[in-house]
Amino acid sequence: MRVGIVGVLVVALAGVAAPFAAQNEAPATLTAAAPEATVALDRAREAAAGLGRDLLARLSAELAAGGPVSATRVCAEVAPALAAAHSRDGLTVYRVSARPRNPAGRPDPWEAAELERLAAQLRAGEMPAEVSAVVTTEDGPVLRYLKPLRIVTPCLRCHGDPATFSPELTAALAERYPADEGVGYREGDLRGAISVTVPLTAATAP
Ligand code: HEC
Repeated sequence: MRVGIVGVLVVALAGVAAPFAAQNEAPATLTAAAPEATVALDRAREAAAGLGRDLLARLSAELAAGGPVSATRVCAEVAPALAAAHSRDGLTVYRVSARPRNPAGRPDPWEAAELERLAAQLRAGEMPAEVSAVVTTEDGPVLRYLKPLRIVTPCLRCHGDPATFSPELTAALAERYPADEGVGYREGDLRGAISVTVPLTAATAP
């Protein structure tokens, strides 16, 4: 049973990695054509791909070694550490969800609006592989970037119908996440996104 799950996860990983590599054209929402914004977009893509890849690798290894209860540790402890490791030189990267398991994953207003738009686009069958925009903040202009995360089969072990969870998993999740909203998903659903913010110099303000 475990072997089967890991096999599916590895296949899913390959499926997730391919679109990361295929995004070379600038998305329509990028409003600044300045070279700084192009460099920032490349950095955002690299950070999102790196975090996604590392997380899936750790998750599949942990599922193989200890099953879903111990793999929840990866999400709880390793995910924030990996996000911090991929956040450097002013760039920040982390995961968000409109229905977070960990309240720390709740989106800010820009992320919430974009996630809602992505969900609507997914329902219409035309969700883009990424979203980016130059946004002005108190600290100056930043490039904001979202890489949508969709539910693939192995995610259902921990984000699917709670009635399918083992009592041990239910107990482990309840202990750590009393306000868990990250359940009840079905395959193909939009689970959330990897969110990246890259500061731009004042010269690149839109
Ligand atoms: C072994 C159980 C498990 C599996 C399998 C799993 N997750 Fe999670 N996921 C968690 C836990 C636990 C958290 C909360 C992490 C934390 O405390 O920061 C989480 C958090 C997240 C978050 C951050 C936002 C939030 O809700 O807190 C996203 C996004 C996410 N998972 C997506 C996925 C996707 C996509 C998959 C499938 C590729 C997946 N997860 C597979 C257990 C799992």
